[in-house]
Amino acid sequence: MSSSVQDGRVTKHKSSSRRSSARRMSQSNQENKEQKKTQPLPLIERTNALPIEQFRSTYAPTISETFKLKNPTEEAEDSSIPDQTKELDYMLDLYTAKTIPSADFEACFGLIELTSSNAYDGSSVGWSPSKKRKEMKLPDMKYLIARRGSRSEGKDESEPAGGAILGFLSFMVTYEDGKEVIYCYEIHLSPEARGMGLGRQLMLTCENVGRHVGLEKTMLTVFKSNTKAVRFYERCGFEIDEYSPQPRRLRNGTVKEPDYLILSKMLDNDDPWETD
Ligand SMILES: CC(C)(COP(=O)(O)OP(=O)(O)OC[C@H]1O[C@@H](n2cnc3c(N)ncnc32)[C@H](O)[C@@H]1OP(=O)(O)O)[C@@H](O)C(=O)NCCC(=O)NCCS
Repeated sequence: MSSSVQDGRVTKHKSSSRRSSARRMSQSNQENKEQKKTQPLPLIERTNALPIEQFRSTYAPTISETFKLKNPTEEAEDSSIPDQTKELDYMLDLYTAKTIPSADFEACFGLIELTSSNAYDGSSVGWSPSKKRKEMKLPDMKYLIARRGSRSEGKDESEPAGGAILGFLSFMVTYEDGKEVIYCYEIHLSPEARGMGLGRQLMLTCENVGRHVGLEKTMLTVFKSNTKAVRFYERCGFEIDEYSPQPRRLRNGTVKEPDYLILSKMLDNDDPWETD
């Protein structure tokens, strides 16, 4: 028995073998390409590959409505605002880091700087405008922007009435510690829009996007020093995540407490808006 047959191979004429092996390689390359074409991308990559309009209609269909801010809560931070201005119409827009108009991007950056640069400065991370801008421009970052006014004031859905920005929430559909999550990167409201339920509404919208996508949980990071935000997140149902950093014992024996918390909320299948 020839060794080639014994090994399960049939020796052919050299040149014909080379030709056919080249043919096989190109055939298998072709098959790989075909397989890649037909194999769906994993959930996270597939979701992030969607054009923003398709993402919006699939995972955030309710955001084209006009919303009303309710009466102020006791925690309203700016009590100097007259009552009639505390009830207002607002609408939500959804953008990616690429599609967000530059004026909106700057307004969002300005809000972060206003509300959180001190907390960053007082932390081990420090405040770096350029790093923050870079993070805000990550390709998969999405922006939910709340602006004063109603959709009917614009000509159509793609043309917002252009009211002032009341606040925003930025998020990313991503992996965290091997889990498929929706990560809330930022939530910041202008002072006059706080304490009226807008923060909760933005958070609910973000959670509902996560539910519609089929993600496991919502996650976020908050400085411990921002006790108001920690309370807000607790009221929204967030708890300390299993991956939140633990105190570290240094070589000199002192214990270093982390200055931030990682919070999370499991996403069940209840969609509070579907029962409305
Ligand atoms: C934190 C923030 C987003 C909350 O939004 P908001 O619209 O003011 O909050 P809501 O009116 O939706 O309140 C939702 C719940 O949180 C509670 N809450 C809101 N602000 C609170 C505060 N300062 N202290 C204690 N509880 C607060 C409300 O009482 C309400 O609870 P309940 O209705 O269950 O009793 C907003 O105040 C903000 O932009 N703060 C500055 C920016 C910031 O710190 N962002 C967080 C960065 S990590």
